[in-house]
Amino acid sequence: MRNILARGVAAGAVALLALTACSTRSDDTSAGASGSAAPAKGFAADSLIGVALPAKTSQNWVLAGDLFTNGLKEAGFKSDVQYAGSSTTVADQQAQISAMVTKGAKVIVVGATDAAQLSTQVEAAKAAGATVIAYDRLIKNTQGVDYYVAYDNFKVGELQGQALLDGMKAKKDKGPYNIELFSGSSDDNNSAVFFDGAMSVLKPQIDSGDVKVGSGQTAIKQTATDGWKAENAQRRMDSLITSTYTSKTLDGVLSPNDTLARAIITSVKGAGKPIPVVTGQDSEPESVKSIVAGEQYSTINKDTRNLVKQTIQMVKDLQAGKTPEVNDTKSYDNGVKVVPSFLLPPLIVTKANVVEAYANDPDLAPLTK
Ligand code: BGC
Repeated sequence: MRNILARGVAAGAVALLALTACSTRSDDTSAGASGSAAPAKGFAADSLIGVALPAKTSQNWVLAGDLFTNGLKEAGFKSDVQYAGSSTTVADQQAQISAMVTKGAKVIVVGATDAAQLSTQVEAAKAAGATVIAYDRLIKNTQGVDYYVAYDNFKVGELQGQALLDGMKAKKDKGPYNIELFSGSSDDNNSAVFFDGAMSVLKPQIDSGDVKVGSGQTAIKQTATDGWKAENAQRRMDSLITSTYTSKTLDGVLSPNDTLARAIITSVKGAGKPIPVVTGQDSEPESVKSIVAGEQYSTINKDTRNLVKQTIQMVKDLQAGKTPEVNDTKSYDNGVKVVPSFLLPPLIVTKANVVEAYANDPDLAPLTK
């Protein structure tokens, strides 16, 4: 796990950068102009803020919990930071949110474990006068979510798709290239957004025949990784190698995050095959080391410090009775409403820019030297 205290030092400067950087697709630059957000009322400066996070399926969640605990305390709030357990995730998170409502939390920040299973709880939160902020993952099919704070997930997918093409081209000048596609857990709203972003780049190449999905498994359902679990990705890669790549070369694998990327690489190595170009996300230390060593091809830098900082800024604005700033009021339709969002820009990291990408990160910078 990364050292939280050390990471705090550069956070201010980095956050400022992120805030001034524009988000990509459907920006609404009229920040704070959203009319659909909850009316701001303000509340006591030492109020309770609830933070309900999913299971620790990747290190960004571990980091987020510590940053919320410290950051909310620093801002003068009381906090209740909870994680869902790894097997009873949905029921855990539902109970945790309900308990936060009972305790009178003024804002409840939710990293949803299952995007579609929280409407009852967040609607109860709203009815009790709390504001609900979806953190990193959108909550679907409910009016009960007021704001969304995340890195631009579609852009993450686009960057992954482009990195996959660039990495394969650098190794072999001409196609056709054989690839396989992996996506995240289907209960996480982000999984489809990452996948759609990547496919927006890959599909034209697949259609032209320059890129071939060897197994033919291109539907998101076929590519999903239940619970974002490494063992599920490794098992699927094992079977893809057996079914499709005993004689054919595998040139690239679209992996939605670092945990799964390393599982895919483990599978390929176990089968005695050369490592293909494998994408990732999250800048997990083991993957940063793997990129430096020339194994994993890419990751995405979505600095958790900035995301938590942005969320706490929203909490502070709500406390002061101000309408929190948003920069996107078009992209995130949760099925019943477009949720006003603050989107941060993700960065692609490969061996070519790994040193500069983490120069301001006291935990990752030493791994790049
Ligand atoms: C996050 C990713 C993370 C994944 C698994 C997603 O919702 O956006 O950063 O890799 O969850 O934990």
